[in-house]
Amino acid sequence: MKFFVDTAEIDAIAELNDLGMVDGVTTNPSLILKSGRDILEVTKEICDLVDGPVSAEVVATEADDMIAEGRKLAKIAPNIAVKVPLTWAGLKTCKTLSDEGQMVNVTLCFSVNQAILAAKAGATFISPFIGRLDDINLDGMELIADIRQVYDNYGFETEILAASIRTVNHVTDSARIGADVITAPPGVIKKLADHPLTDKGLESFLSDWAKTGQKIL
Ligand code: E4P
Repeated sequence: MKFFVDTAEIDAIAELNDLGMVDGVTTNPSLILKSGRDILEVTKEICDLVDGPVSAEVVATEADDMIAEGRKLAKIAPNIAVKVPLTWAGLKTCKTLSDEGQMVNVTLCFSVNQAILAAKAGATFISPFIGRLDDINLDGMELIADIRQVYDNYGFETEILAASIRTVNHVTDSARIGADVITAPPGVIKKLADHPLTDKGLESFLSDWAKTGQKIL
């Protein structure tokens, strides 16, 4: 399973990247706003830091403008994945750019039917949003499972990029289902290391070690 980091914060990406935890990065207009950085500058820095795909999102809503924005974003670096919303204009953009050999991430996916359309339009990644479905009392994880089944039924090669991940359980469940990639905020990725029994076990080992009076160094 590949791990993408869902942020435009350079320091957070660098910290996880140094540990080999970063297979790619996803950004969106809200994350660019949060970073306070210029989109072209910060995206270039991320692309220089990370080897894998870096998603940069278009903001136009008409296909011609989206395609032009996508081509401009694609020029930032070879590892850019142009991110487009799952609208008809976004699908047209996806088809045009993917035919040109460009990686495309189709985002804001909330149904299996949308995921089928993205695959047929040549998407490299489909991003179903788990947390935002859970927020309205629907089941985000069920959507990941349904897309997995349908893509496997027909051999679609588009990678399922489980997005809008809010909890460590979203990561576990995505892995069980067989999502190709998860994208999660740095905080969620770091929390994957936590377990109360690890903390408790370490506390007792250290307490016993102190009683031995020994030192390793
Ligand atoms: C995915 O690419 C999106 O950037 C992201 O996962 C959205 O997450 P949110 O619903 O927590 O904003």
